[in-house]
Amino acid sequence: MKVINQLKSLKEELSFQNNQSIGYVPTMGALHQGHLSLVKLAKKKSQFVVASIFVNPTQFNNKNDLKKYPRSLENDLDLLNSESVDLVFCPSYNELYANEKIVKVDLMGLDKTLEGSNRKGHFEGVIRVLNIFFSLIKPDFAFFGEKDYQQYLIVEQFAKTFFPKLKIISCPTLRESNGLAMSSRNRHLNNREKELASEIYKTLLYCRNNYNKIEINKLEEICFQKLSKFSKPEYFEIRNSKNLSKELSSSSSLRAFVATKLSDIRLIDNIAMN
Ligand code: PAF
Repeated sequence: MKVINQLKSLKEELSFQNNQSIGYVPTMGALHQGHLSLVKLAKKKSQFVVASIFVNPTQFNNKNDLKKYPRSLENDLDLLNSESVDLVFCPSYNELYANEKIVKVDLMGLDKTLEGSNRKGHFEGVIRVLNIFFSLIKPDFAFFGEKDYQQYLIVEQFAKTFFPKLKIISCPTLRESNGLAMSSRNRHLNNREKELASEIYKTLLYCRNNYNKIEINKLEEICFQKLSKFSKPEYFEIRNSKNLSKELSSSSSLRAFVATKLSDIRLIDNIAMN
């Protein structure tokens, strides 16, 4: 496994990959089994696997959150090595953004709701950094976890316009044995908080079991109240899973989305309803 920091070396390494299909797994490090499941799928689907580790400042709307974001580079590299990743790219902010070409993207309103309205500028930052990475790496496939389902939809919409040959692939959320969705931010939770946070998944399951028994608005309210018992919920919303709109018909495919804060740690999760 090669670990590369500079753009020049990345370009050099990629120039040796004549015609091999490239699978790309973008990460912000602090890797867990969820990330490794993306890497495993990338290994299956492509001949050459590139991962990046870069905590992207432009997608944080809160300086403290950026400062606190967990970092564990050595351990991350060991994990990627054990999955036989071919190349890991860990750039510096200055070099990565130095020649950025800003693009104007119509995300069809996908970026204006849920995480978009609660974390101003977040998706703009995600698209900025992925635009740079996709342009440099030119992958055939890129892999994203369903825990960030809205991000997956947005990246897919972005890629359709700007990287039409790139296939965006989503992978199911991996969970701890108590149901808590794996996330780098879980490192900030102590054992008791992890136990409490498992109620998030239980609430999502309750929602899925009841969505055709209880009127949607009422169900959202009940779930919000359930979350309020142990955390500070920002939203609990049932949405159309293709376009995130609130317009739901009996034939729509639906997904419930949640964001809640537990001791200042912001956790998100979602589940398909049908
Ligand atoms: O999901 C993440 O970890 C980040 O948003 C991503 C896709 C690596 C972009 O910085």
